[in-house]
Amino acid sequence: MQERIIQFLKESGGYISGEEISQRLKMSRAAIWKHMQELRAQGYEIAAVPHLGYQLVAAPDKLLGFEVQAGLGTKIMAKKIHLFDAVSSTMDEAFRLGNENCPEGTVVCAEFQTKGRGRLGRVWASPKGKGLYFSIVLRPNLALAHLPQMTLMSAVALAEAIEEVSGVEPSIKWPNDILLNNQKLAGILTELRAESDQVRFVVLGIGLNINSSANQLVPAATSLKIAANRPFNRCEVFQAILRSLEKGYLRLLDHDFAGIRKEWKKRSATLQKKVRITDSSGTIEGIAVDLDQDGALLIRQDSGAIVRKSAGDVILLR
Ligand code: BTN
Repeated sequence: MQERIIQFLKESGGYISGEEISQRLKMSRAAIWKHMQELRAQGYEIAAVPHLGYQLVAAPDKLLGFEVQAGLGTKIMAKKIHLFDAVSSTMDEAFRLGNENCPEGTVVCAEFQTKGRGRLGRVWASPKGKGLYFSIVLRPNLALAHLPQMTLMSAVALAEAIEEVSGVEPSIKWPNDILLNNQKLAGILTELRAESDQVRFVVLGIGLNINSSANQLVPAATSLKIAANRPFNRCEVFQAILRSLEKGYLRLLDHDFAGIRKEWKKRSATLQKKVRITDSSGTIEGIAVDLDQDGALLIRQDSGAIVRKSAGDVILLR
């Protein structure tokens, strides 16, 4: 109901009378007044003037479930959404929900994380209300060996959504970093629960720096605001990402990794570069020559040998 009231206020662009809202929603004016109070408590600034009615003066810079879902149009992503002011990590909440058999596409999002985490045990800085920090529970029918495809699909979807809303053109550093001018704009963390070699559910975690200033970020990071020189409406960015992820996910389920791989390659910040890659088996250097059918990176060493890596930490050498 509050969603519809906000919609009326936004559509009217000026004042809308309590009488008109009450007729359109078939609700008493006292009930409308109560909803207005609740909306104000959520941070909406709503003017009320006798004989004129209500006017939306300002919306809070806060992610609200119904605003994220309004007009979203997805079939899987964010049909259910849990928004928190603060959590340790949205990954933990999403895992808990995944274990409780939540519907596929359930989203957990927080304004702030006290223990946001990245790959390889790194910390993910989550300045309050400045970015998007969320995790999605997905239940793809995917063999474990194909899991890297999920991260690469997400990277392409995320980069495309960022470009759509901001006009900046991010590149992708294998496997999961979204870069702008060689600085990190966003990261993706894929964790899962599996039984034998089959995925039971995947938790896809995304962190995107949106309105943070340089002093709120770690040195090698950037934000959309810094890159585009203007602030962004986080709800609009969130919606674009959810739509783009859904498109990519359906494509993956439709076994079109070849198409995703093509898009990934266009945005790659890694291919044809000299890289140093470290995983549990050690460190090697060479030229990243290709991405294979499963999303693994192929590295040509000085000896000419081609080494295949499906996980690891990459440093770009030149
Ligand atoms: C990386 O670049 O290493 C991945 C970063 C992933 C960060 C996101 S923020 C939302 C979700 N919750 C976390 O604790 N991590 C992911």
